[in-house]
Amino acid sequence: MTCVIGIDLGTSGVKAVLIGGDGDELAILGVRASSYSPDVADGGCVQQEPSVWWEHTRAVLRELTRDFPDAEIAALAVSGQMHSSVFLDADGGVIRPALLWNDTRTTEQTREIIELCGGEARLLELVQNRALEGFTLPKILWLRKHEPQNFARLDKVVMPKDYINYRLTGRIATEVSDAAGTLLWDTRARTWSLEMVAAMGLDASLLPTVLESLDVVGVVAADIARELGLPNGVRVIAGGADNSCGAVANGILEPGQAMVSVGTSGTVVAYLDALEGDVTGEVHLFSYSAPEADYAMGCMLSAGQCLNWLKENILTQYGYDELNALAEASPCGANGLVFLPYLFGERCPHPDADARGVFFGLGAATSAGDMARAVLEGVALNFAEMLALVERFAPVRELYLTGGGARSAVWRQILADVLGRELIVSNVEEGAALGAGMLALVGAGLAPSLKSAGERLISRDRVIVPNRDNAAVYAKSARVFSALYAAARDVFKLNK
Ligand code: XUL
Repeated sequence: MTCVIGIDLGTSGVKAVLIGGDGDELAILGVRASSYSPDVADGGCVQQEPSVWWEHTRAVLRELTRDFPDAEIAALAVSGQMHSSVFLDADGGVIRPALLWNDTRTTEQTREIIELCGGEARLLELVQNRALEGFTLPKILWLRKHEPQNFARLDKVVMPKDYINYRLTGRIATEVSDAAGTLLWDTRARTWSLEMVAAMGLDASLLPTVLESLDVVGVVAADIARELGLPNGVRVIAGGADNSCGAVANGILEPGQAMVSVGTSGTVVAYLDALEGDVTGEVHLFSYSAPEADYAMGCMLSAGQCLNWLKENILTQYGYDELNALAEASPCGANGLVFLPYLFGERCPHPDADARGVFFGLGAATSAGDMARAVLEGVALNFAEMLALVERFAPVRELYLTGGGARSAVWRQILADVLGRELIVSNVEEGAALGAGMLALVGAGLAPSLKSAGERLISRDRVIVPNRDNAAVYAKSARVFSALYAAARDVFKLNK
């Protein structure tokens, strides 16, 4: 049976899905996953050795080929965490660990970028996005300032999934959806902004060739194919950024469609036919993996991460199921406890690397359940603020819910109630890995379009309907939530 593999290279692990079928039927035949954790240090440092990604990716591919010996694999594609900088030397060697998308050591560089390009308005004109710590360009300038000996060796900068494509095929390239997250990309013109590159005093040769997400990068090199149990000639399709692939996997393919994704980070992604209207920098405007399309995105740095933190660092005696049950038992509004979810600083709606998490309203009667519920509600309240900003660009008619957080029934209901919207949940949980698989199907000519691949793989599983009885309580929580950040903003700076 002809098959493809879609891979999602995330922050805390890699997942590979095998997709195949006969005739019109397509199905996910198997999923294999492997976890890792990035190195986190003081000063907002989050980094990882790209060799870890390569090792774990090889491991999941080997498992799939071992467990499905009859699969005739024709193509694969990788989706990956965005922005994280893989610094390569002229021999294709990795110079230092990659600085990840949630690394915020680069505040000084974001100021330098605005200065070098002649102000915020000019920056928005050139690349349609604000200078935020997580993007790739500030990381390049950080390397230039803090590790000049490494910068001197720098030949190319690519993103995590491009590094995997390079190790598989020997070709260094990226594609539009990841190029867009560098801050060196003109989303409107769908090309590198050479003016921006020059203004930064960088050499354009640092930038890799840019493909479309559906283009072929190359074929898996013979020795790697042998090691991984893949047949000869497996095509590697360029793939895409995880948020772009996640949206593809939710069938976000026309104006009015959007998704809320509760992963480590949290994103609201809305389809755009074209960038129209004033660009304000409040949301990211990036090129999409679907041909000629773009998307508007709000990204919060800690969504699922907040629940992980609560479980791993605070309420360590409980598992996820128990935490969800405790949260469910606490009333809507968590007995007045409000949580600001800014564990890593924040991007949207507040571009503020100094922001931190806050529990507000603790009382003598506050329980573990109130804390668990406040965390789920605080993340949902931030999603509501992001959705309002995204809708200024792209009014949303159909909202899909996806990501690991969507597996929690209590969180799903809180999200629907706080957003005041129906949330559509699809039958598949594989998100970005499935989206990458769909790119592989279309890129290899096994499906005529993303829409048709989607029609054969994705269906609506359920719709979460908001409970209007909770609307008044959450309206109050939303007022407290937003007033709390406004009141704490300067205090975060004091407490740095
Ligand atoms: C998006 C972003 C995150 C990562 C997570 O701009 O930084 O969502 O892509 O992998």
